[in-house]
Amino acid sequence: MNKPVKAIFAGSFDPITNGHIDIIERSARLFNELKIGVLINPNKKSLFTIEKRLELIKDSTSHIENVEVIYFEGLLIDYCIKNDISVLVRGVRSSADVDYELQMAHMNKELEDSIETVILPTNTKYSFISSSLIKEVLSFDANIENLVPKCVLEELKKKKMQIKEK
Ligand code: PNS
Repeated sequence: MNKPVKAIFAGSFDPITNGHIDIIERSARLFNELKIGVLINPNKKSLFTIEKRLELIKDSTSHIENVEVIYFEGLLIDYCIKNDISVLVRGVRSSADVDYELQMAHMNKELEDSIETVILPTNTKYSFISSSLIKEVLSFDANIENLVPKCVLEELKKKKMQIKEK
């Protein structure tokens, strides 16, 4: 019998968007177990704490059964080896993402040959969404309610002043 396939969708998720949710829902259907891995990067200034990012991801993915939200530090491939994860899921929005994603996929393959990267094209209706653009347009009071889960919208509204000051 084939062993269950464990995959991970890793990122900064600062914050999680509807584009991420689309990739999570689709990859949860492809693999037996899907971890959503939030990178702890002490060198990168983030809007939300790691605790808040984990909470928002848990809230907005609670409808998906085979998903678990975790955080990791250091190399993603090391986390995968330690946790028996064999697939890295990445989403691409446009050709602008492809070069970077291929470079990461090749580097991760070089680091550990047994772990494969699966690249999913983002649903076209979310192809323009990024966490940083959402923060930027919100700072100009744009309506972003179609772009992020409800719980994220509430938290972003609370952070609006902080975003504007940046
Ligand atoms: O949210 P992002 O920027 O698309 O996520 C990128 C992420 C977290 C997947 C990538 O930067 C990563 O894996 N970082 C952990 C350190 C690492 O493994 N670097 C080598 C990548 S080839």
